[in-house]
Parts: sequence; structure tokens; C-alpha cells
Amino acid sequence: MPYRCRECGYRSPKWLGRCPVCQSWESFEEVAEDKAGETAGQTWVGERPRSLADIPRIPEERLSTGMGEVDRVLGGGLIPGVVVLFGGEPGVGKSTLLLQLAAQVAARYGKVLYVSGEEATAQVKLRAERLGVAEPTLYLLSEQHLLRIVEAVQDVGPTALVVDSLQTVLARPDGGEIGGLLQVREAAAHFARLAKGLGMATVLVSHITKEGGFAGPKTVEHLVDVAVYLEGVREGDLRLLRCVKNRYGSTAEVAVLQMGASGLVEVANPSLFFVPQDRTPRPGSAIVPVLEGSRTLLMEIQALVTPSGGYGPPQRRTAGLDFNRALVLLAVIEKHLGVHTRAMDVYLAVAGGLEVREPAVDLAVCAAVLGSVRNRVIPADTVILGEVGLAGDVRPVRRGPERLREVAKLGFRRAVVPKAPLPKRVSLEAIQVQTLKEAAEVLGLT
Ligand code: TYD
Ligand code: MG
Repeated sequence: MPYRCRECGYRSPKWLGRCPVCQSWESFEEVAEDKAGETAGQTWVGERPRSLADIPRIPEERLSTGMGEVDRVLGGGLIPGVVVLFGGEPGVGKSTLLLQLAAQVAARYGKVLYVSGEEATAQVKLRAERLGVAEPTLYLLSEQHLLRIVEAVQDVGPTALVVDSLQTVLARPDGGEIGGLLQVREAAAHFARLAKGLGMATVLVSHITKEGGFAGPKTVEHLVDVAVYLEGVREGDLRLLRCVKNRYGSTAEVAVLQMGASGLVEVANPSLFFVPQDRTPRPGSAIVPVLEGSRTLLMEIQALVTPSGGYGPPQRRTAGLDFNRALVLLAVIEKHLGVHTRAMDVYLAVAGGLEVREPAVDLAVCAAVLGSVRNRVIPADTVILGEVGLAGDVRPVRRGPERLREVAKLGFRRAVVPKAPLPKRVSLEAIQVQTLKEAAEVLGLT
């Protein structure tokens, strides 16, 4: 009787205390002799070491998902055999987007199998109709049993497979509750081997769940080639598709999508999306170029500083900005500019509902606060960029020149920036400052 690692499926003729492949301890269990024709991927396909020179290259061809922005996040599209983990909170739009992408891939490259463990095929069909999807090469299956999904794959022979979701796959009868760690890991590992064996691009959906007991996407990230997350923003219908792991490309890429009546559509030029073009500048508003992956997005920081009621401590609220960072910046403003907000309520927000975590927004946050305190406006054609140190110094930010080039392209004429190299041949007046005080003077906010 052979033995098999419960974690990764590695087989060994004798019992081992530790798996040589996945390093799990005590994971070997006795299994029945392999039956001929047992599902592909279930048996460990041993490879022999080969010279680097003899190993074939991964083909350059990539399957386009039909959405340029999504392709960019995936590192140029789907490589045959790639395993993509697709995470997100329930209701964010995973099934919607994947049905759209599955149809696009089916239209271009042949059969795609979309397996839903949560919805009946009739329900999926209803959604497909709403999305205007009618590809005959798109196959639907409502199934939870891993082995039956594998059978369906062998039956259909698809170019790409979508499993919606990992948490509904019953991978092992003895693996405990569906959605539990063992089931989810086993399913992910199995689909990964299947994908590699067949050269079939595979997308594994995984819900982010807040309550314990279920295995979320983080528990299988190490098993996949690419991990992306679909995120909602605080308010409205915008979605960000963010790549956090990519064995074949850059991990920092982000796509901006918008949920509409017929599914998700890409926001092709999101740079100015969060700053309305007909914006009238108001006191307490400052524009900053924020980096999201290789994209520069302009964000509006808004501050409202008002005398507090005098009962209890003054209010401090932030939306989309780091709360503790905001408190530090208020202290720096007080110390280095002598502007006291101790008896004031301070509200700070990023307009449009995005989360911004970069220190590069510090100077814009300070400018917005000062603008509100002084009741002065920062001109509409001016952006503000820089990290603010505890000593009241303004520090360079990463990829500053790139951001300024984009800002100039979008029609802004002035930028208050740290002392650092500037982009060449750019029609933008860059005012370099070394301290917060200088920045306040330049902007007329002292
Ligand atoms: P869904 O894709 O089912 O989310 P997930 O698979 O991540 O759980 O999306 C659910 C939400 O999307 C639901 O609230 C309805 C909305 N929606 C639209 O706004 N437009 C559409 O065209 C579709 C299909 C869904
Ligand atoms: Mg879903």
C-alpha cells in the first residue's frame, strides 16, 4: 500500500515523518493502490532534474481577457496553465466579472468551463443574460465534488476553467467541513496540478470571510501563480482589482473598474477620475498625485477644521487616510507653524472613497488643513506632493518625476514638491520646498 501526503498529494511507497515536497509533518496516510485511469493530477507526476538549457520556455502567448486593464493586472493576460486566485468579499462582484471574462476568453480561444458551487446553472444563465453574455463555447456546471469537476474538465477540454468558489469544493470525503482549511487547500493544490498538467488557465475564486472557521484566500496564496483581489471602495460603484502576487509579472498593478447595469466596465483613464474636471477649488481642498501600481491617480484631500463645542476632547475623524498619521501631522503643524488645532474639530477625507496609505500625501494633508484653518484656496491648477517629517521637513517621494510628468499631461500647471530631481522637458512650474513652512509660504497659507 502506498502512502500519500494529505497536504500536497505527494506519494511515497513508504511512510515518511515529513513530506519532502511541502515539508508538512506527520501528513502521510495510507491510500489504496492507484487505479489505472485515476484522475489526472491526483497522482504525483515526478519530474527528473534537467539542465537549465533543456527546459522549454513558457510560451509567450497569453490569453486576453478582453479587458485591457484586467490583462495588465494579470501581467499581460492569462498564460496557459496559470493558476489565478481571485479573492474578494462576498457581493463585491467576483462572479459578475469572471462570467464576463470567461465569455470573452470563450469567444476568442474556444471552450471555457465555469463551475459554480454556489448557484444553479439557471441562476448563472440569468446573470449571463443580464450581462449580455451568450457564448455557445462557454460551458456552465453547478457542482461541488472535486472529482466530478475534474471529470467535467476531461469531458469538455476547456482552454480555461473558473471555479466559483474554492470554499464550495468538496475535495475529500474525510476532509471535514466544506470551506474548511483542509478542503480548500486540497482543492487548490489539486486544481493547480490539473492546470499545469493540461496547460489550462485556471481561476480559483475565494471569499474573504470575516468570521473564523472558513479558509480565506490567504491560506492558499502560496499554491497559486497569481493572486488578485477585487476591492470595493468606501462609497459608490467603483472597484479596484489589485494584484498582490505574480510569478509572471509585476505585483503592484491595479485596475479601476466600475459596476454598472450590465456588469463591470473598465475605467480606461482613471487618472482624473476622482477629481472632477469642473471642480471649483474650495478652502480645505488639496490635490495630490497618488501611485497605484504603475498608475498615477489624482486624489483630492479634503479637510474641515472648525471650533469644537468645548465639551470633551475635540473630534478627529479620517476617511481613507491613516488616522494616527493624521494626528502626527496635526502635531507637526502645531509645532512648526504655530497653528493650534487643540480646540478644533478636524475632519479629513479622501474624496471618491479610495483608501490612500502613501506618506507622499502628507504635504497635501497639511495644506488642506491649513487651507481650512486660514479659509484660503489652493489654485485649481496646483498639485501638492511630499512626505512630511517630524522635524517639519519635506521629503522626496518614490517615483516623483513620473508622477509630475502625468500631472503635467493632465493639464496642471504648478506643483509644490520636495527638493529632488525633476522630470525634464515638462511644462509644469515645480516649486521645490524643503520644509512645511516654506510650502505654507509658497501657497499663501501662513
Ligand atoms: P456578485 O458577482 O454576485 O458578487 P460575488 O460573486 O463577489 O459575491 O455581485 C453581486 C452584486 O453585483 C449584487 O449586489 C448585484 C450587483 N450587480 C450589478 O450591480 N450589476 C450587474 O450587472 C450584476 C450582474 C450584478
Ligand atoms: Mg459569487
